[in-house]
Amino acid sequence: MPFTDQTALITGASTGIGAAFARDLAARGTHLILVARSKNKLDALAGELRTAHAIRVDVLPADLTRPDAVADLSDQITRLGHTVDILINNAGFATHGDLAAADPHRVHNQVQLNVSAVVDLTTVFLPAMTARRRGTIINIASTAAFQPLPHMAVYGATKAFVLSFTEALWAEAKPTGVRVLALCPGATETPFFDVVGAEEASVGKRRTPEQVVATALKALDRGVPSIVDGRANTLVTRLPRLLPRRATIAIAERSVRPRTTSPTPVTTHH
Ligand SMILES: NC(=O)c1ccc[n+]([C@@H]2O[C@H](COP(=O)([O-])OP(=O)(O)OC[C@H]3O[C@@H](n4cnc5c(N)ncnc54)[C@H](OP(=O)(O)O)[C@@H]3O)[C@@H](O)[C@H]2O)c1
Repeated sequence: MPFTDQTALITGASTGIGAAFARDLAARGTHLILVARSKNKLDALAGELRTAHAIRVDVLPADLTRPDAVADLSDQITRLGHTVDILINNAGFATHGDLAAADPHRVHNQVQLNVSAVVDLTTVFLPAMTARRRGTIINIASTAAFQPLPHMAVYGATKAFVLSFTEALWAEAKPTGVRVLALCPGATETPFFDVVGAEEASVGKRRTPEQVVATALKALDRGVPSIVDGRANTLVTRLPRLLPRRATIAIAERSVRPRTTSPTPVTTHH
């Protein structure tokens, strides 16, 4: 059991894929540090896992869109005296709709959470893993990372960043013994689409969070830089390599196109 008595920090652990990682690792004897904004949900999960398994679970509520959130978290973990052996950068969200009509605050926060927090947490915890010549980092990208995604332009770009960043890091970390993996789920049955607020963002048959976690843990054993969850999703992510760029963008545009489009507002000057 390679995860026994290790400590995993999981962001976005209150629901969905993050909670599934927490349950799976808890069953392997991994101690947990759970992070998300919803303290009540984290407390409920922590209670359930402490009762079922002989593990330590710490709940550290945080809004990772805040610029000082990662430094605060790191300080709290140091004060608790914990070593982070496994870092799972999972917290993330998407918006759907054209950028011209987007809420600038939501756009900014999406980049903060999906990109900045991932880079900052990785940068904070990687050096100690490298020094110990042992550790694991799993960053959650998406099938959205493999092509531009019109109507979800920012989300697609954040996930392309996570994939590129993580695969590069995989190569840097390989000689040090630290395992790095970019996990790319396709549509998965979680509250993610409630947050998006548009069913059009969900492409293909949804997989379960448990399937996604199992895919990640198998891929870690194989030592690959990235893994796409599910056979159909894997095929879809290979298409952009075969098609002209323009065709790839057109297919992606149609796949998540809003069903009811509001006309672009026209400003007239009198
Ligand atoms: N579901 C899919 O179809 C799918 C597909 C591909 C990739 N993904 C990726 O998988 C990851 C997990 O998503 P999910 O499907 O499990 O969705 P989810 O159930 O909505 O989970 C998102 C998690 O992120 C947390 N979170 C959101 N905003 C946060 C903030 N500002 N600070 C800290 N935590 C925050 C949420 O908790 P609080 O609200 O309590 O903060 C929640 O625990 C995301 O990176 C997502 O992009 C999902």
